Amino acid sequence: MKIAFVGKGGSGKTTVASLFARYVAASGAPLLAVDADINQHLAAALGCPEDEALMLPSLGDHLGLIKEYLRGTNPRISSAAAMVKTTPPGRGSRLLRVAETNPLYDGLVREIGGVRLAVTGPFATEDLGVACYHSKVGAVELLLNHLVDLPGEYIVVDMTAGADSFASGLFTRFDVTFLVCEPTLRSVGVYRQYIGYAREFGVRVQVVGNKVDDSSDVDFLREHVGDDLLTWLGRSAYIKAAERGQPRSVRELEPANVAALRMLWQAADAAVKDWPAYTRQAAEFHLRNAQAWANDKAGEDLGAQIDPDFILGPHAIAATR
Ligand SMILES: Nc1ncnc2c1ncn2[C@@H]1O[C@H](COP(=O)(O)OP(=O)(O)O)[C@@H](O)[C@H]1O
Ligand SMILES: [Mg+2]
Repeated sequence: MKIAFVGKGGSGKTTVASLFARYVAASGAPLLAVDADINQHLAAALGCPEDEALMLPSLGDHLGLIKEYLRGTNPRISSAAAMVKTTPPGRGSRLLRVAETNPLYDGLVREIGGVRLAVTGPFATEDLGVACYHSKVGAVELLLNHLVDLPGEYIVVDMTAGADSFASGLFTRFDVTFLVCEPTLRSVGVYRQYIGYAREFGVRVQVVGNKVDDSSDVDFLREHVGDDLLTWLGRSAYIKAAERGQPRSVRELEPANVAALRMLWQAADAAVKDWPAYTRQAAEFHLRNAQAWANDKAGEDLGAQIDPDFILGPHAIAATR
């Protein structure tokens, strides 16, 4: 299952994503976490010391490697250079499993606090005005579009704050979107803005309340997000202690908050996969991108990269192995 954590900056996306990833990974389920936020905090939230987090290999710095690998022998993609973030897989492309040995994971995935993690990398000052952060996050879109996750396998992505997500098709690449929301007007404002875009693309948002103190907070959330409220986490002494450098086993998290994580897990497992629709939407976004800017940049018609006879999914993996 492909799972996104979105919401207003400061709402607790990274915190909840890291707890969820640790909780699920501790069960032994195959899981890959990805930090796709411009403010890279997921490694730290998983317990990686700050200085080591800065040394992690980043997806954004290895776009060439990623494209070369995923392209495989797909004859519709003339070169890695002609591959853009929305270039979809086709026959000959290399597909990814959540847990497997491949050169991309060897180079770019590290285990932190029991969780396999890849990071897009920080937005460097030398990027300013030259590249936009979206090209780095584009690596995540490429990975998701080539990734075949089976039931009981999880990819957890900590996304950029608020509505920045809509600058690309990335927000449509998930089976489940958890919007972390504090019981505040600004936080529910981000929810409202998000569902405005999301509905148009068939993206279903489930709200995870966070930093809830009492029942009036729950009432507030329910009043503003209605049935989209899936569950909530309370304000947590465990999280506060972790923030002060005392990370503990996720088993020591408050029972009510563990129950909330379990709800998220159940909601993820309950998501229905529609691989043909997923494939079709990838192609639509690719065409849109190609026409908007990518054809000009590449100097060729990138629409021709779409393989009309290819559908992503478990059968596609079987066909290539
Ligand atoms: N349930 C909670 N209880 C107490 N503090 C929390 C809780 N959730 C998040 N926080 C704190 O709120 C701050 C912002 O959380 P963070 O996960 O970094 O937000 P985001 O990723 O959405 O910007 C952090 O200091 C974090 O420790
Ligand atoms: Mg964050």
